[in-house]
Amino acid sequence: YIDIRDILFLNYINILSKVHNTMDFQFKSLITEKDHVGVVFCDSKNRLLGHAKKLDQISKKSISTVVNNDASFQKRKSKTFDYAIVHTPANLKLSKIYVFRLGDYSKFSVRDFQILGGHLYALISFYQEDKVGIYPDGILSKNINAINSCSEMMLGSLLASYKFDKYKTVNKKETKSLKIKIYSSNYSRIEKNYPNVVAVAEGVTMTRNLVTEPPNVMTPPEIAKNAASLEKYGVEIKILGEKEMTKLGMGSLLSVGRGSEYESKLAIMKWTGHKNKKKKPIAFVGKGVSFDTGGVSLKPANGMQEMKYDMGGSGVVVGLMKALALRKAKVNAIGVVGLVENHIGNMATRPSDVVTSYSGQTIEVLNTDAEGRLVLADALWYTQEQYKPEFMVNLATLTGAIVVALGNEYAGLFSNNDKLSKQLEEAGKIEDEKLWRFPLHDNFDKMINSPIADMQNIGTGHPGSITAAQFLQRFVNKTPWAHLDIAGTTWTKSLLPTSPKGSTAFGVKLLNRFVNKYYEGK
Ligand code: BES
Ligand code: ZN
Ligand code: ZN
Repeated sequence: YIDIRDILFLNYINILSKVHNTMDFQFKSLITEKDHVGVVFCDSKNRLLGHAKKLDQISKKSISTVVNNDASFQKRKSKTFDYAIVHTPANLKLSKIYVFRLGDYSKFSVRDFQILGGHLYALISFYQEDKVGIYPDGILSKNINAINSCSEMMLGSLLASYKFDKYKTVNKKETKSLKIKIYSSNYSRIEKNYPNVVAVAEGVTMTRNLVTEPPNVMTPPEIAKNAASLEKYGVEIKILGEKEMTKLGMGSLLSVGRGSEYESKLAIMKWTGHKNKKKKPIAFVGKGVSFDTGGVSLKPANGMQEMKYDMGGSGVVVGLMKALALRKAKVNAIGVVGLVENHIGNMATRPSDVVTSYSGQTIEVLNTDAEGRLVLADALWYTQEQYKPEFMVNLATLTGAIVVALGNEYAGLFSNNDKLSKQLEEAGKIEDEKLWRFPLHDNFDKMINSPIADMQNIGTGHPGSITAAQFLQRFVNKTPWAHLDIAGTTWTKSLLPTSPKGSTAFGVKLLNRFVNKYYEGK
């Protein structure tokens, strides 16, 4: 799907880039201005697309001459990332023109345009350009209209430009603002849609920031504070602390935070964007374990540092709510995040303790490292009881077993509802945040029966991701529900076309697409 040479080149660019760019997009009709470098496109047979043909005429074929002769350009062949450079084209007041050679753009998908945008960003940033004009007309795909294809390309650039260097005091890359003008005959419609692009990019950025922050900073109260910051975008906020949760009887969630100095929280975000304010909401629930030591069932030292991203599910829910609010999505949506730190301590839960959940069901905690499901048990029950949603989707870095099954490529999908599953899978395909559905079954459910309580928090058999999902299912009542196990996809150790190493925010784009495609205005 993406060429290995692209990856090598992206890495190379990433390491050698001297500056970091923030992007500022502007939109213009198809006039030829000066004082910038141009970005134009050609097809796999070197035929210039859209306005590039006109520029080539004006410049007495200086573009097509380079395109047809550039030896290195001719040798590489990949879907989106060949480029050639035309220096000082005749008759044009452009200092340089980058020509991107595209594969079969007539079949480009949403994701192809995002990847193209990511590559564009890498290249422009590498060459330290500061004023760029892009001429996207002519890249017409059967699968997506011209406005959306340009929007997805811009989104790809914005996502690829993410960086997190607030704790660096030396060797910090200089940050420069990059002015990009989109020259297009559709410019006004592209401009009108741009706030929607920014909304998604801001949502993803917020998720990445929350997940990347170290666990001594991004504690449960701090995540709650970040969720509460969405109030300024019109999101209603409710935060429950330990006192309130004790009163409600949330013994399952609270059992996880007992070894921690930080107060456990349940943060609820409510976005009312549907014209019928009383319409049943849709609900998203996130696991927010700010750090997972494993508790008394302590994890081995090796790799434990990765457990700062164990709040990834909650990060996605907060980022998604931000995106929905910023683009004023026509939907009523609830976001609920269970926030705890799973630490060791005098009062920490012991393996074999029995706790009573908010639903009234009792749980024998046999392994304190299977804590995510304990958090979600109370968060899910609370969500369905308080808000009677049309459905609930929860996200959690829940099991190591899902990484064994699916690696870093797919997230696990578990659901009691076929329609919901299909919609999520479809949205995932579009955004290249792919889901793979696993089975649920009564015989798996039996594996979490406890001899002394209603259930135990680890299964007796081998299918660890499934028994974890069966556990969650006992807390959804009859609500249509889907669980996304994102343990393998929340964090990336290698650079991706639209994500630097680290937090991917996997799930934000997927769920934003899912909401937009199936639930908005309906
Ligand atoms: N947070 C972990 C799961 C995890 C593992 C996330 C690797 C990301 C990468 C979860 O709380 C956990 O520890 N699960 C245990 C469950 C087991 C004790 C039944 C696991 O998967 O080993
Ligand atoms: Zn754990
Ligand atoms: Zn965990």
